[in-house]
Amino acid sequence: MSHPNAPAPAERTGTALLSVRDLTKTFPGRRRLGRPSAPVRAVDGVSFDLAAGETLGLVGESGCGKSTTGRMLVRLLEPTAGTVAFDGRDITHVAQRRLRPTRRHLQMIFQDPYASLNPRQTVARIVSEPLLIQGSSVAAARRRAAELLDLVGLDPEHLDRHPHQFSGGQAQRIGIARALATGPRLVVADEPVSALDVSVQAQIVNLLERLQRELGLTLLFVAHDLSVVKRVCDRVAVMYLGRIVEIGDKRDVYEAPAHPYTRALLSAVPLPDPVAERRRERIVLLGDPPSPAAPPSGCSFHPRCPKAQEICRTRRPALAVVGSGAREAACHFPENG
Ligand SMILES: Nc1ncnc2c1ncn2[C@@H]1O[C@H](COP(=O)(O)OP(=O)(O)OP(=O)(O)O)[C@@H](O)[C@H]1O
Ligand code: SF4
Ligand SMILES: [Mg+2]
Repeated sequence: MSHPNAPAPAERTGTALLSVRDLTKTFPGRRRLGRPSAPVRAVDGVSFDLAAGETLGLVGESGCGKSTTGRMLVRLLEPTAGTVAFDGRDITHVAQRRLRPTRRHLQMIFQDPYASLNPRQTVARIVSEPLLIQGSSVAAARRRAAELLDLVGLDPEHLDRHPHQFSGGQAQRIGIARALATGPRLVVADEPVSALDVSVQAQIVNLLERLQRELGLTLLFVAHDLSVVKRVCDRVAVMYLGRIVEIGDKRDVYEAPAHPYTRALLSAVPLPDPVAERRRERIVLLGDPPSPAAPPSGCSFHPRCPKAQEICRTRRPALAVVGSGAREAACHFPENG
């Protein structure tokens, strides 16, 4: 099914639809025992470009700042510093009212479909709402909602049902229909399958992949682990403690990771071939990630890094090109260079 806002294929490559520079989010410390604790630097200077029609996977352990980054991109959260440019326009501080024409192009799919859908509203209402906000008539929005249900593989006859009448996978399809209602160009999918049964995860990943292709969506796909994003993404960014530590084409990052943290994450991904699975080396990281309220000095990964040297404790490595491909890593001693 074609989409009214799908760009022509020629427009899908080359230009950066989204440009993020030094994006930072600091949350004030919570008060503990009457004393304020240190501020939390949840996102600490993130920069990347997303070409139109491209899918970037954003991975990293819990608490590394993935959701905070995603929410700032679609202006659900105000950045503390840095800039977000969409289609060449700086939207970092545009007032919500003036942002309305752009807002229809910036949408989000959430992790928990039931929590993100209002249980008292019908599916028709849930999916129509973004269209009504953009000025659609009720009748036109309802017609479009029926088309959207069909697009995401649900029965358009079920418009008057409520979210609890659907399975988790179906509820996530409703969330996806709602996100697509206004014909967005950029969609941030924040762990869209991690709350679902393993048996339906692949179906939702397939659906997102098909929609991305058919509608020419530009997609930021947030996930805990590297195996889920492998199928869908063109490029991958690995985050650790609020920073991107490696970013590049999928093939470079998966086949020849440069950063020790990426190598450790990849070593935890099960291999389909049992012989390869038995032989492969697992890199076990020591301890939990440090708190973003008290990040380690130098390279913030050094307390857990099997390759750490003296310089790593004092000098923070910047993202730099590794090898000949389109890949950067923030490490003083990158591999596969
Ligand atoms: N509203 C908030 N107030 C204070 N701290 C926050 C807030 N939101 C997030 N944080 C903190 O910011 C850091 C990054 O959180 P974020 O939710 O972006 O991580 P994440 O990578 O999405 O994690 P997960 O994989 O668990 O979803 C965490 O330390 C978190 O506790
Ligand atoms: S800079 Fe040092 S501590 Fe950090 S990832 Fe590289 S080798 Fe490890
Ligand atoms: Mg998150």
